[in-house]
Amino acid sequence: MITGWPHLANPADSVFFFILGISVTLLFLNTAFMIYFVIRYSRKRNPHPEDIKENLPIEITWTVIPTILVLLIFFAGWKGFVYMRTVPPDAMPVKVTARQWSWLFEYPNGKQDSVLRVPLHKPVKLLLTSADVLHSLYIPAYRIKEDCVPGMNTYLWFQPDTPGSYDLFCTEYCGVAHADMITKVEVMPREDFDAWYTEAAVAPERPVPPEKKAPRPDIEALLNVKGCLACHSTDGTPKIGPTFKGAYGRTVTVVTAGKERELVADDEYLKKSLLDPQADIVKGFPPIMPSQKGLLTDKELEDIIGYLKTLK
Ligand code: CUA
Repeated sequence: MITGWPHLANPADSVFFFILGISVTLLFLNTAFMIYFVIRYSRKRNPHPEDIKENLPIEITWTVIPTILVLLIFFAGWKGFVYMRTVPPDAMPVKVTARQWSWLFEYPNGKQDSVLRVPLHKPVKLLLTSADVLHSLYIPAYRIKEDCVPGMNTYLWFQPDTPGSYDLFCTEYCGVAHADMITKVEVMPREDFDAWYTEAAVAPERPVPPEKKAPRPDIEALLNVKGCLACHSTDGTPKIGPTFKGAYGRTVTVVTAGKERELVADDEYLKKSLLDPQADIVKGFPPIMPSQKGLLTDKELEDIIGYLKTLK
């Protein structure tokens, strides 16, 4: 939802309205001349057509005016481009990883989230990349959009000057759940942001309490940040992948190297499903899960499997 004019600093709108103004003016001028000529040079008034020789002043006018207009559009666009590509030096860097089908935001202190939280009045630099296919990050409220390309780093920046919650989504078709790659930019007052930023992070090396009493909210947050919940529900709802609910200990039919077989989803199977997901695909689901090898620590793997056991 767009509230107010959060993007006021961004010149995209002024360039848009400038070009729109030129277009509307030309539309009215052209239409008016057409109507005038239809009447003025109708057959009734001019029964005998005549040749018109060249008219130098008119030809110069219709060459020079459009050239000036096109140059003005170029300069307006160029100024906007330079503005958008010039990141203020005090911008807060946030690493953005796009992946099928969710967003991961990583802050300088290692904090991770699936929502982009930013403090008010602080420019933000987004360092974009993709873990798999092409995605594109789009924040309509700030008039910014850039591709996320695997193996490449791109960037964007914006200045959040109005508190609120704005849509952030993927605008490059990236597979079956492309439409689910939608999240929020939360523009928070400085104090709220600082409080959130300094509270215990859901970071990869986060210490987990030693007592094995499944720390559920933590693991849910971990599953969210790692992108698991984009495709797997924890409440039995069918999504792109099988639900986590009751996954542990269930007898499933899987497709292994093109052949169907049955197995019981035990620790070993769940671990394999995370690290080598293509090996045994649960029948009826597409073979699209990316391997989590190197993306999850051993501790996280253990925690997740431990948590799945509790989802009866
Ligand atoms: Cu990611 Cu569309």
